Amino acid sequence: MLFSSFIVLSLFGGVGLCKLYEDVADLPKLHYDFVVVGGGTAGNVVANRLTEDANITVLVLEAGLSNTGVAASEVPFLLSELIPDTTYSWNYTTVPMPGLDGRSVPYYRAYFLGGCSAHNGMVYTRGAAGDFNRYANLTGDEGWSWDQILPYFLKSEKWSPPADHHDTDGQYNSTVHGTDGPISVSLNGFAWSTFEDKVIQTTKELPDDFPFNLDMNSGQPLGISWLQSTIGNGERSSSATGYLAPKFIKRSNLDVLLHAQVSRLVNETKADGKPAFKGVEFKYGDSLFVVKASKEIILSAGPVGTPQILMNSGIGAHSALKALGIPTVLDLPSVGQNASDHPSFYAMQWEVNSDDTFASITGNATRYAEGLAQWNASAKHTGPFVDSGVGTHIGYLRLPADSPAFVAHADPSAGPDAPHLEFTFLPGGYGTAGQNLMTIDIAVVSPVSRGSVVINSSDPFAPPLIDPGYLSSDFDVFALLDGISMAQRFVSAPAWDGYIGAMTTNLTGLNDVELAAFIRETTGSSYHLVGTAGMSASDASYGVVDPDLQVKGMSGLSVIDASVVPIVPAAHTAAVTYAFAERGADLVKQRWSLST
Ligand SMILES: Cc1cc2nc3c(=O)[nH]c(=O)nc-3n(C[C@H](O)[C@H](O)[C@H](O)COP(=O)(O)OP(=O)(O)OC[C@H]3O[C@@H](n4cnc5c(N)ncnc54)[C@H](O)[C@@H]3O)c2cc1C
Ligand SMILES: *[C@@H]1O[C@H](CO)[C@@H](O)[C@H](O)[C@H]1NC(C)=O
Ligand SMILES: *[C@@H]1O[C@H](CO)[C@@H](O)[C@H](O)[C@H]1NC(C)=O
Ligand SMILES: *[C@@H]1O[C@H](CO)[C@@H](O)[C@H](O)[C@H]1NC(C)=O
Ligand SMILES: *[C@@H]1O[C@H](CO)[C@@H](O)[C@H](O)[C@H]1NC(C)=O
Ligand SMILES: *[C@@H]1O[C@H](CO)[C@@H](O)[C@H](O)[C@H]1NC(C)=O
Ligand SMILES: *[C@@H]1O[C@H](CO)[C@@H](O)[C@H](O)[C@H]1NC(C)=O
Ligand SMILES: *[C@@H]1O[C@H](CO)[C@@H](O)[C@H](O)[C@H]1NC(C)=O
Ligand SMILES: *[C@@H]1O[C@H](CO)[C@@H](O)[C@H](O)[C@H]1NC(C)=O
Ligand SMILES: *[C@@H]1O[C@H](CO)[C@@H](O)[C@H](O)[C@H]1NC(C)=O
Ligand SMILES: *[C@@H]1O[C@H](CO)[C@@H](O)[C@H](O)[C@H]1NC(C)=O
Repeated sequence: MLFSSFIVLSLFGGVGLCKLYEDVADLPKLHYDFVVVGGGTAGNVVANRLTEDANITVLVLEAGLSNTGVAASEVPFLLSELIPDTTYSWNYTTVPMPGLDGRSVPYYRAYFLGGCSAHNGMVYTRGAAGDFNRYANLTGDEGWSWDQILPYFLKSEKWSPPADHHDTDGQYNSTVHGTDGPISVSLNGFAWSTFEDKVIQTTKELPDDFPFNLDMNSGQPLGISWLQSTIGNGERSSSATGYLAPKFIKRSNLDVLLHAQVSRLVNETKADGKPAFKGVEFKYGDSLFVVKASKEIILSAGPVGTPQILMNSGIGAHSALKALGIPTVLDLPSVGQNASDHPSFYAMQWEVNSDDTFASITGNATRYAEGLAQWNASAKHTGPFVDSGVGTHIGYLRLPADSPAFVAHADPSAGPDAPHLEFTFLPGGYGTAGQNLMTIDIAVVSPVSRGSVVINSSDPFAPPLIDPGYLSSDFDVFALLDGISMAQRFVSAPAWDGYIGAMTTNLTGLNDVELAAFIRETTGSSYHLVGTAGMSASDASYGVVDPDLQVKGMSGLSVIDASVVPIVPAAHTAAVTYAFAERGADLVKQRWSLST
């Protein structure tokens, strides 16, 4: 690895000093009150909150490696080294998707403590109030409504100054942010002024189409806002660095075991007339172990891992389980179904007449080394490496009311205040090294397409079939067609005169049929998968978990991670996962009368 000798602050004070176990032989016991499967974004929230009650014991089983000392997970700008398949990735690929012209695409999932929060793009977005009011409506539980979930967003958040301590007046709304939570959130801490000024200028020149929005995280996301990221002091903030910080991991009632991949739930019994499992089977090295959970098993293995473990354990569609020779414990056909994710179109990219772009760093080895050295020079990090390099602003936009998309399908958005499209603006792109570019990434954030994650083997360690179903609905293609013309309209503002050059792929001359074909050839993933263990009303004929996140028809088994979110929100999904996990942990605590 490029920066293998890079010394970073140890998060836990060194292996062996803490209760983060690398070796199963060191684990003090094999019976706990709660076993949390997956030390990812949500799992560490649950572990942290439950162990606030000193009377109960919690074990977290994480399949992946330690995040400690992984420079690329700490230095925000090193993101591009972390995202491709690496040692810290499950290395999944999707099934071939008809909507993408039969293409398979990589499906990144993190394989280390912190889960995807430790390798994602750090974009901090919550979605529209309507997303949550729709969840409340679908589940019949007002607790998932915007007004009632907002306190959980605030609880997880620690709003922090940007690394460069610039004046943030007019760049966010402090009244919608939390200040005491474990996850740091901040505005960018290194300016790309030439580009940023033009984005803001466009909101003044074309205010009807592209209004400025002081803060997209108020529940009213429409418009163009300054990017917010899960970064504090120029360092990535993840569920591992935040919720498992030293003061939490040292709790005597919390243990975390790494390199422990859960295969299935075992020791079936009955409780309250329902099937229940008392044991969790996991692989460490070449051996299988069983750990007992006396109160509850909580699946937090993420939207790929959770449905896989459910099906491995005999919870899923009876026909599918039977075909694989897995005895059915509970026929629950929705397991793994209704997967939803945002398709992303990355080709709106232009050459620009400026060298104030990411290429000034990524295309110049000297400047790159200087930037990293600057980040590393002081405990108060500065310079271009303090930011993710994902972008400077985010736009949330609705399709025009007369869009052909609405002929293909009724409006799938969560209401008039919820967007169909997300634009991410960046002074950079995916060209050849050193090429000065700008990009407007376009994602459909109200997709109609649905997919699935199911197992295809009785081997619990075989990778599942991941099918995000991208562009299986024509609505999503029509939405991207509109997005392309809206992005062209954005850069038609006078602000861009003399700055913007040719598109790296000339889309101007293509008709809609040719453009749609190009969209299917090039669209990729946003990695915002949800819904594979979706919640529904208690009396619904479908769904995997009840509104209190307990698996329907089971006793002592909950799911707390992105898989329970029934429809993908109009947002990057980490903040929503944190908020759901905070409320999910509260629901468990209420159920067992635990102290807070
Ligand atoms: C490349 C990428 C970029 C993204 N960018 C952003 C972004 O910029 N902003 C944003 O908001 N969201 C982003 N997301 C999405 C967001 O990070 C996820 O939605 C969120 O982190 C999911 O949290 P989770 O707890 O459900 O799952 P995860 O965080 O994936 O946690 C699941 C954990 O369970 C472990 N696990 C899985 N199976 C097993 C098993 N059998 N046994 C034991 N452990 C197991 C995994 O190793 C992992 O640690 C991105 C995602 C990816 C992949
Ligand atoms: C980071 O700083 C430490 C000393 O503080 C040094 O040992 C290390 O080599 C530096 N790494 C880089 C990549 O500059
Ligand atoms: C632990 O349990 C005991 C007995 O059940 C109770 O008296 C005590 O208050 C509990 N402590 C906490 C921290 O909840
Ligand atoms: C993913 O691929 C990398 C590089 O080939 C490898 O080192 C790593 O072990 C793989 N991860 C898993 C979970 O198999
Ligand atoms: C859901 O919304 C519909 C239409 O607005 C309303 O009639 C229904 O009562 C709502 N259901 C719940 C559970 O809130
Ligand atoms: C900030 O958010 C609050 C709460 O949503 C709102 O009442 C207020 O008007 C916002 N402030 C500005 C300046 O937009
Ligand atoms: C629990 O399940 C494991 C794996 O199937 C088995 O080896 C063990 O005997 C079971 N324990 C009890 C008490 O049933
Ligand atoms: C998918 O979710 C919808 C509600 O959004 C529901 O009507 C449908 O039954 C679900 N399908 C499955 C297979 O669970
Ligand atoms: C690369 O960066 C160095 C240091 O900032 C600078 O001196 C040099 O001119 C740059 N090279 C190019 C080709 O821009
Ligand atoms: C599913 O498993 C069958 C039987 O092993 C295999 O033939 C098939 O290729 C698998 N499907 C996929 C998509 O991997
Ligand atoms: C893009 O294509 C259109 C139509 O074919 C053409 O008129 C235009 O000159 C092209 N632009 C560039 C920069 O090549």
